[in-house]
Amino acid sequence: MEKLRLFITRERIAAKVSELGRRISEDFPGEPVILIGVLKGASIFLADLARQITVDATFDFISVSSYGNLMQHSGEVRLIKDVDQSLEDRNIILVEDIVDTGLTVNYLTNLLSARHPRRLKIATLLDKSCRRMVTVSIDYVGFAIPDQFVVGYGMDVAEHYRNLSDIFVLEPSFTAM
Ligand code: PRP
Repeated sequence: MEKLRLFITRERIAAKVSELGRRISEDFPGEPVILIGVLKGASIFLADLARQITVDATFDFISVSSYGNLMQHSGEVRLIKDVDQSLEDRNIILVEDIVDTGLTVNYLTNLLSARHPRRLKIATLLDKSCRRMVTVSIDYVGFAIPDQFVVGYGMDVAEHYRNLSDIFVLEPSFTAM
């Protein structure tokens, strides 16, 4: 059995998403941006972030799979679904829910840079930098968090809990013997 402990409330998330949206809007004055969400976890964050951006923002989605289990990343990332358009000379914001080992963002940065975008920025709601295996440069970070397993607001365990409005820490619950 597992237990959910409230970690980041929907109010704090909303305030942070609003701040990130304002910063992105200020960084791209009068210029269109393409928000590229990394499926599936980033979908909720992207939906909220997009509504806090005041410049023209369109959406695209990309999907990768990483080998390994819940705790251990194998280091291998594979493209499952590509974006639907040319990124040449476009302003791209790659939108992640969480950066953990950094392997996904590292892989996607290399992939998308090779398409010659005008600018490529990375936004993540959560940054678990203590788990980094590769160095990545993130432009917009919502919350830096410690090494805890988080769910809700798009993030899952075995596909569950993505629809929760707050972010929770998943804790094992122990039964007294
Ligand atoms: C999560 C998250 C990132 C990636 C980060 O996706 O959405 O894409 O892991 O981990 P990394 O920094 O160690 O590469 P996940 O594989 O859980 O898929 P999901 O978004 O569909 O839940």
